Amino acid sequence: MNAKLLQKVYEPDSFRQQGHQLIDLLADHLESSLNGRGEKVINYSSPEEEMEFWRGFFNAGSGSDFFQEVLRHTTHVHHPRYIGHQVCAPAPQAALCGLVSSILNNGMAVYEMGMAPTAMERLVTDLLAQKIGFGEGSRGILTSGGTLANLTALLSARKAVLQEDVWLEGHGKRLAVMVSEEAHYCIDRAARIMGLGTEGIIKVPVKADFSIDTSLLKQAYEAASNKGLHIFALVGSAPSTATGVYDDLDTLADFCKEKGLWFHVDAAHGGAAVFSKKYRKTMQGIDRADSVVIDGHKMMLMSTITTALLFRDGSHSHTTFSQEAEYLLQHSDEEDWFNLAKRTFECTKTMMSLQWYLLWKTYGEELFDANVTTLYDLGGTLAGMIEADPHLELATAPHSNIVCFRFVEPGLSSGKLDQINKEIRQELLEDGVFYIVQTRIKGTQYLRCTIMNPFTTEEHLRALLDRILNTGRNRISA
Ligand SMILES: Cc1ncc(COP(=O)(O)O)c(C=O)c1O
Repeated sequence: MNAKLLQKVYEPDSFRQQGHQLIDLLADHLESSLNGRGEKVINYSSPEEEMEFWRGFFNAGSGSDFFQEVLRHTTHVHHPRYIGHQVCAPAPQAALCGLVSSILNNGMAVYEMGMAPTAMERLVTDLLAQKIGFGEGSRGILTSGGTLANLTALLSARKAVLQEDVWLEGHGKRLAVMVSEEAHYCIDRAARIMGLGTEGIIKVPVKADFSIDTSLLKQAYEAASNKGLHIFALVGSAPSTATGVYDDLDTLADFCKEKGLWFHVDAAHGGAAVFSKKYRKTMQGIDRADSVVIDGHKMMLMSTITTALLFRDGSHSHTTFSQEAEYLLQHSDEEDWFNLAKRTFECTKTMMSLQWYLLWKTYGEELFDANVTTLYDLGGTLAGMIEADPHLELATAPHSNIVCFRFVEPGLSSGKLDQINKEIRQELLEDGVFYIVQTRIKGTQYLRCTIMNPFTTEEHLRALLDRILNTGRNRISA
């Protein structure tokens, strides 16, 4: 009985058949999504309704409908009216790599458990480091998400900057990092995981354009130092998440040099701009960073999760986690770059390098340039349309494909406007023809678009704005 069941699970012919059907289903989905033929980007249902559906399906649904139902109950990122969170519409070839990674399941911790993807990881991170402008001694790793990569970078920073060996002896100092108040919340989380507490996260105010106010760095540094805090790193955002605005990396690098700080750049979203001939300038100064995070699954057409963490001086990548686990990781005097778990937080991880390698090899870096340039251009187009309408107001001029704005009407209180903008977003979500998100910036409610799909056009954006304007007007008169 057991043997029969197990044999059935692994039956190659049924895998072949199901696989063919699945690819057909996904190719049809892709076709209708990309063309915008599918009417809705999301068939929204409440969490309770969704639970109810899947509870029922578990008991009575047909397994053959499973994938079709998953499609019906998820958000379609390949749809050009998907203009929401910062996940890309993955290139189908990248998704195929995900399937291969899942079936081969090489855990990547040590060389033998992923020979090809280990070599590819070294190759693509070397190429990426070069593209950033790092020199010979640089190194990188791939890891499970920008959040984890930022934590890893800060752990490396702490180890590199502190004189004592924190890894072996712990530390008695009150440590701190400096970061813009607009940085992604994962920096705050990483600092707290590292035991820095609230006082160890020095949030530097932003300027009117939401980039870090570099004129306040010295003052923030001195105030914290006078309180007895030992600052070891400064984090720049390239760009920050809510508003998509890049910090002035060159000035941050100057400050780090002056104070002997580790300069980390969270370029999870916009690091891919190094590939764009037109927008590379947004990353001016990136080659002076000690470490940089870039998510493949944001602006580089890969599936989740495919994050790269690059170190200007590769020795830090090798020594962040100096641990031995006799059955897996042994001490080596030479750098064994090929035993990846020595350098990553994870022990097991997916074979994410396949996606980087295959996309880069097949299409060249022109693909990344085309994607970033198209999407950032569209960000500018959307901003122009918003500026031209007296009933719409930009939060700030965008630097990227992230655009925050709100519906406005003269004479209405800020509380009423916040409420109307929340209602607009809720109505769009429930209606599902467009998918956008929302954010609060300095106490004001904004609609937030991230144009992630290179097939979104000016017409789609016009239709979105018309929809928002209509809904806003209806809400006023309601
Ligand atoms: C600037 C920035 N850093 C980090 C993250 C977190 O990355 P991940 O979702 O890959 O963990 C995000 C996600 O939106 C981000 O925008």
